[in-house]
Amino acid sequence: MKPRTTSGVQGNGPASVYEPFLCEIESIRDLTRTEKIFRLIRPDGLAFGHRPGQFMQVSVFGIGEAPISVSSSPIRGDYLELAVRKAGRLTGAMHNLSPGDSIGLRGPFGTFFDSSALEGMDLLLISGGCGLAPMRSLIQYVEDRRADFGRVTILYGAKSPGDVLYRDELAKWRQAGAFACQVTVDDVPDGTCWDGHLGLITRLIPPLRIDPVRTVAVVVGPPVMYRFVIEELHAKGLQDSHIIVSLERHMKCGIGKCGHCAIGHLYCCIDGPVFRLDTLPSLSEIL
Ligand SMILES: Cc1cc2nc3c(=O)[nH]c(=O)nc-3n(C[C@H](O)[C@H](O)[C@H](O)COP(=O)(O)OP(=O)(O)OC[C@H]3O[C@@H](n4cnc5c(N)ncnc54)[C@H](O)[C@@H]3O)c2cc1C
Ligand code: FES
Repeated sequence: MKPRTTSGVQGNGPASVYEPFLCEIESIRDLTRTEKIFRLIRPDGLAFGHRPGQFMQVSVFGIGEAPISVSSSPIRGDYLELAVRKAGRLTGAMHNLSPGDSIGLRGPFGTFFDSSALEGMDLLLISGGCGLAPMRSLIQYVEDRRADFGRVTILYGAKSPGDVLYRDELAKWRQAGAFACQVTVDDVPDGTCWDGHLGLITRLIPPLRIDPVRTVAVVVGPPVMYRFVIEELHAKGLQDSHIIVSLERHMKCGIGKCGHCAIGHLYCCIDGPVFRLDTLPSLSEIL
């Protein structure tokens, strides 16, 4: 979506892209059984200088480092929020931290959802699972600049009601009327209350009324979601140049040096994670 921008840190980050800077955890909130949201502040009070869609390399001392997407909008305040799923060593250690503790950050890194290419367009924001974390950064941005965008439709899918991220905010987005917002889950366990849709997220696309010329779709989710969502978007007449995806790859350096995140001739960490679909190799290669 955006030309590569990050051979180094943007905004107010430190000069060295190799050296983590310390941040304080201001608050931690449970999102689900396995995901927590961390609000971070810099001791010097400066902003993090990120754009929606970018990621940080997060380090816990003595454990290691992992890429985590920024989940908050840069225009909401001089803080940064990360939604973190407990997946392994680093994220498990993060889940044991408390407000007032420090963690290390490098970044922000990577390409972003370029608001100048989205302004004036209808937006179809489709996310699955943890994909709502980076998407929320864009949604908050659009919410605060609502007049700059056309119709905005949010579609979100999770495995079960207990896996739905940002439940309160989804309800608020649905009720406030600024967006059309639909949430679906694959399965509702017995005894669980659920008033949203049931079934895969792809089922929400065919009934939508979309003008393919003035619509841009942004898709963020698990790898299995992309192929089927993109097929439905094509069926609606959207060209690849109107489809933006954010991809995940195993990463080490985050700055285009180690080659761990290669997608064909591209590096996910500096050419992505946000890509316009027509700039990528074939779907089978990227998935
Ligand atoms: C650009 C980017 C943005 C990300 N944003 C987030 C985010 O917002 N929130 C979040 O919770 N996680 C995010 N991740 C995923 C996170 O970086 C990995 O889960 C990371 O491995 C966690 O580190 P760990 O030490 O806790 O787990 P590890 O011990 O490294 O791994 C746990 C398990 O996850 C697998 N794994 C590791 N990396 C990946 C990957 N990139 N894709 C698929 N499987 C992987 C491992 O093989 C292992 O099975 C993001 C990854 C990328 C590349
Ligand atoms: S993570 Fe090292 S090149 Fe992308």
